[in-house]
Amino acid sequence: MTLNLLLLMAMVATNILSLYHLTSTTLQSPKSPKQPQVPDQLLHQLHTIRATINHLTRLHPNTPTLTTKSPKPTIPPDLSLYSHLSPIPSSCHNHPDLLYKYMSYTPFSLCPSDPDTAESLILRGCHPLPRRRCFTKTPHKTIQTLPVNNPFPSLSSIPETMILWDRYNCKSFNCLNRQNPNLGFDFERESSRHVIYKTELDLPVSQLMQIAKAAKSVIRLGVDIGGGTGSFAAAMRRFNVTVVTTTMNVVAPYNEAVAVRGLVPLHVPLQQRLPVFDGVLDLVRCGHAVNRWIPVTVLEFLLFDVDRVLRGGGYLWLDHFFSKGVDLEKVFAPLIGKLGYKKVKWATANKTDAGGVKNGEVYLTALLQKPVSR
Ligand SMILES: *[C@@H]1O[C@H](CO)[C@@H](O)[C@H](O)[C@H]1NC(C)=O
Ligand SMILES: *[C@@H]1O[C@H](CO)[C@@H](O)[C@H](O)[C@H]1NC(C)=O
Repeated sequence: MTLNLLLLMAMVATNILSLYHLTSTTLQSPKSPKQPQVPDQLLHQLHTIRATINHLTRLHPNTPTLTTKSPKPTIPPDLSLYSHLSPIPSSCHNHPDLLYKYMSYTPFSLCPSDPDTAESLILRGCHPLPRRRCFTKTPHKTIQTLPVNNPFPSLSSIPETMILWDRYNCKSFNCLNRQNPNLGFDFERESSRHVIYKTELDLPVSQLMQIAKAAKSVIRLGVDIGGGTGSFAAAMRRFNVTVVTTTMNVVAPYNEAVAVRGLVPLHVPLQQRLPVFDGVLDLVRCGHAVNRWIPVTVLEFLLFDVDRVLRGGGYLWLDHFFSKGVDLEKVFAPLIGKLGYKKVKWATANKTDAGGVKNGEVYLTALLQKPVSR
């Protein structure tokens, strides 16, 4: 009897405690996404899970409030999207408006033409997406020929009708090239990328292969993080190395461009765990997309995930990583140092374009080798 009473009291006490805890966390402002400390971050996440579960249980598909309230969520600039710390799986629930839009479709018919919604969810950490049973739109024209075994095809050899251009201002690769020839959509021109040594920041792939060979380390498999149209994978193809490219369709059809070259695009944002098992890759390259815009905590997670997928003796290549000079010294070099990799190459130079000079930025190109055993 007394025991039962005690148990009852204990139960009531814990409930009151958790209620207190719940309300106290609810009172904290959940708005700021930048939380320097992990416990705060976790609390924030827990709070968001609770809030969104509440929200979702109240949410009924027929409630019109959602569509009328905010027709279009204000989308932060693309780069700041990358800055969200990869959240625990509640992230889909964090964006009920987008999720609602994504899941509003007629089953067994053509999907709504909304690839941006999927990408928006992915960029916000909602990946893998919830599934839906509808048919993804494909271009109307059938494709007769495509360049085979040539990752540097001429644009005239690629039927532009094979890409759905509706969501872009440009309706062809030529148009994208006219806008900016450095985006990587002129595939023939891309054949000179990663080939020539102009400054000490460059590491031509032939040299990379030689370095690995001299170290008796075989390079067969790699991933190129934020690899745009896949030019690094294309350059490595010449050496019979298989490289897959993570790339997003921000402003242009990057994934389709990689695929058109016969290379493998992975539609994966920077903050996501790489969809690759532990210790299976020989090489990871981080291009321009990995830079000081990524908050340090997120970058740390990224680097440790790279370490996870690299085999012992594998290489991490930071290619033209840029940051403020002082931050490289005080923040990023120590962060990279945490991996305990051997510095095969470490070259820095002033970033001399307008933005670089204005912000006192420097470039770092580093080739780092993971210890053979831990
Ligand atoms: C790549 O593989 C092909 C076919 O096996 C071979 O002929 C070629 O020499 C290889 N290239 C290199 C750079 O190893
Ligand atoms: C790099 O820039 C700094 C100022 O930001 C300057 O003091 C330094 O001389 C520059 N280095 C070179 C090699 O140009």
